[in-house]
Amino acid sequence: MKLAVMGSGNGGNFEAIAKHVKADITCISDIQDARILQRARNLGVKAEFVPFEDNLRYFTENKFDLIVLAGYMRILPPEVLELGRFVNIHPSLLPAFKGKDAIKRAFLAGVKVSGVTIHWVQDEVDSGKIIAQYPVLIGNLTHLDEFEAEIHSIEHALYPIVIEKLLNDEVFDFSDLMGGGKCGGGCCDDAGGGCCR
Ligand code: GAR
Repeated sequence: MKLAVMGSGNGGNFEAIAKHVKADITCISDIQDARILQRARNLGVKAEFVPFEDNLRYFTENKFDLIVLAGYMRILPPEVLELGRFVNIHPSLLPAFKGKDAIKRAFLAGVKVSGVTIHWVQDEVDSGKIIAQYPVLIGNLTHLDEFEAEIHSIEHALYPIVIEKLLNDEVFDFSDLMGGGKCGGGCCDDAGGGCCR
């Protein structure tokens, strides 16, 4: 199975995917010196700098079973999206808090529940059919840093297992995914209330 992971920055989700998902992985970034490409090289994963304007040519010439966005900060046009099955992860419970800085905006808005969403990509930003969603509670004493760390911890546990299911064309009951100790490393409680690290 051929998997492409596209990101523009840090690459925390990419690293979680690369360590967990059994596939022929290519890491792609639109930023030449992005940390995500360095992480890929360190892990012995193919790393490619593909400028945003080259995506049409690149995905015409290179075919993947699945293309996952992991912090890719550009909006892909419809003619590129037609060339594959694209999935995205977003650090909020969509459709709330679309766009940049979703974690901070949700926190500052004072919501008591936010979370993580994995969805199919369509040309409108952070929209498309939801594949999986996981809630994170924000207590009255929760600090922004703690909330942010918990969101990332959930992302890194959830994204790899959902990607594996999609690659294998497995129908899954989402409620089973994160319970019962199946989320390797990033153990989460069954009540959906967050991560028990
Ligand atoms: C992740 O939190 C991801 O959900 C978010 O960017 C971060 C990338 O972190 N994506 C979006 O906000 C998409 N709208 P990473 O580079 O460490 O994986």
